[in-house]
Amino acid sequence: MSHCIGLLSIAAKFSLLVFLLSAVFLCSSLSDRNPEFALTKTEESDLKEENGKESVTEDDADAEDLEVFYPTNWWQTVHPVPGPFHQAGRKCLDGDKLLFKSIFILGQAIPAGLHVRLNLQTGEKEAKLPDSTNEKSDMKDQKKRKRLDKVDIDSNSFTSQELKEALAKLKENEKTKSTMEVKANLEDVRKRFRPIEELKAEFERLNMRIETDYEIMVKLINKFNSSDSMLDEKIAALYDLEYYVHQVDNAKDFLSLGGLQLMINALNSTEAVMKEHAAFVLGAALSSNPKVQIEAIEGGALQKLLVILATEQPLAVKKKALFALSSMLRHFPYAQQQFLKLGGLQVLRNLFKEKGMEALYVRVVTLLYDLIMEKMLLEGAQNNEDQMEEKVQQYSQVKLVPAVVEQGWCAIVSNLLALPEHDTREKVLKTVSVLMAFCKDRYRGDQHLNITLSMLRSEYEELAAEEQREGDKDGYFKELLGSINTIIQELR
Ligand SMILES: *[C@@H]1O[C@H](CO)[C@@H](O)[C@H](O)[C@H]1NC(C)=O
Ligand SMILES: *[C@@H]1O[C@H](CO)[C@@H](O)[C@H](O)[C@H]1NC(C)=O
Ligand SMILES: *[C@@H]1O[C@H](CO)[C@@H](O)[C@H](O)[C@H]1NC(C)=O
Repeated sequence: MSHCIGLLSIAAKFSLLVFLLSAVFLCSSLSDRNPEFALTKTEESDLKEENGKESVTEDDADAEDLEVFYPTNWWQTVHPVPGPFHQAGRKCLDGDKLLFKSIFILGQAIPAGLHVRLNLQTGEKEAKLPDSTNEKSDMKDQKKRKRLDKVDIDSNSFTSQELKEALAKLKENEKTKSTMEVKANLEDVRKRFRPIEELKAEFERLNMRIETDYEIMVKLINKFNSSDSMLDEKIAALYDLEYYVHQVDNAKDFLSLGGLQLMINALNSTEAVMKEHAAFVLGAALSSNPKVQIEAIEGGALQKLLVILATEQPLAVKKKALFALSSMLRHFPYAQQQFLKLGGLQVLRNLFKEKGMEALYVRVVTLLYDLIMEKMLLEGAQNNEDQMEEKVQQYSQVKLVPAVVEQGWCAIVSNLLALPEHDTREKVLKTVSVLMAFCKDRYRGDQHLNITLSMLRSEYEELAAEEQREGDKDGYFKELLGSINTIIQELR
């Protein structure tokens, strides 16, 4: 997905050359609707379609009226067209399936597979059919030309729609032009859909390097850290960083670049929005990343997150702080132990007394559930390996369940069964089930719970029956009903 940004930055670099590189991506929709144009498409289906009756006008949702360049064997000037400049979306779906929608150079659309060069002296762009000579001499030739201040671009890219339009227009022109070369080139053009990685390699070959995630992160970190940046610029930098640090390797780079500590420091910023986004980036970087988890706890992130959760803060800030805390604690027994030592469980418990924090309830319960399960699953696993034993040893120091029972979480959790959403109840039921072993005595005497469970049972009996009538034998409601019945039975 980073390609989107990377490629845009190419455009920025080449803007000097009045070079309109329109990096519009087909994020999924093209391949969805036009399966023959997916990256793995077969040329045959493509050809068949072209030879068939229709296809030029279908799916023109994002078609543009393009002026098409008709290639020949000699260099021709490509005329500028004041076309729309497309911004690539920040996050494209299905990153690896991306195609360039098209490369526009100074505006006029150029069929894929042509040699294109920019004449830096005249500022004009020229294009022609590729020579039939072999590739290697071609590359040498390109280098030579570059020295002559002419940049070559192999514009191997085109959208289905544009390609079809181009082909259609070319076909119309066959009568007048009627050259075998053009025809032969058409076949070639059809094969020119290329995955982004290939394009990237192509650009690299031409020294048009695409910015790496690392370089982008350096820029973003500098933007964030610069005293010249306004608050909104800093927030924008964090917003983008969050996207990069999801990747494990990026998160490690983020760490070595000093970005992690900047986030931790920002957690006690006076600006709520800063705290919120710093916690967001932190949470993303911490996710399933032991190296970052260790550095973060050493950098004091845990205390700061707990301070945010324990003090009066906007809900949005606490939400992200809870997210970061969860990422910090998951699969990291040392952090869990510190969390308990620092009174983290009470901090979470107090959220249930605070007004306006209802949105956090289920998140908190889910976190507790995950932590309890994590430990239980590990203890239940075969642990003959040394590493495993060490893990079990670490987890044995995490006295989570006794603290949970002592602090009254049994009732906090079961009371949430009164919430109306099914998926919330599902999570709460799961948690009640794992807590059952420790909370049974409390639950047995809880008349309120007894009533809630009875009501839920009848509600889900009805929903499950309906589900079954609709033909769903192993439905969602049946599953929920099963959990409820199990709990009721255990309480007998
Ligand atoms: C942030 O800026 C300060 C002051 O300019 C500098 O000392 C520090 O190295 C910078 N940190 C990072 C991670 O760039
Ligand atoms: C944040 O905390 C650090 C140390 O924990 C401190 O040096 C810094 O001044 C604090 N910043 C603010 C804005 O309170
Ligand atoms: C609920 O209370 C009724 C009596 O009021 C009792 O018969 C039943 O067993 C209780 N159910 C549970 C699950 O405790």
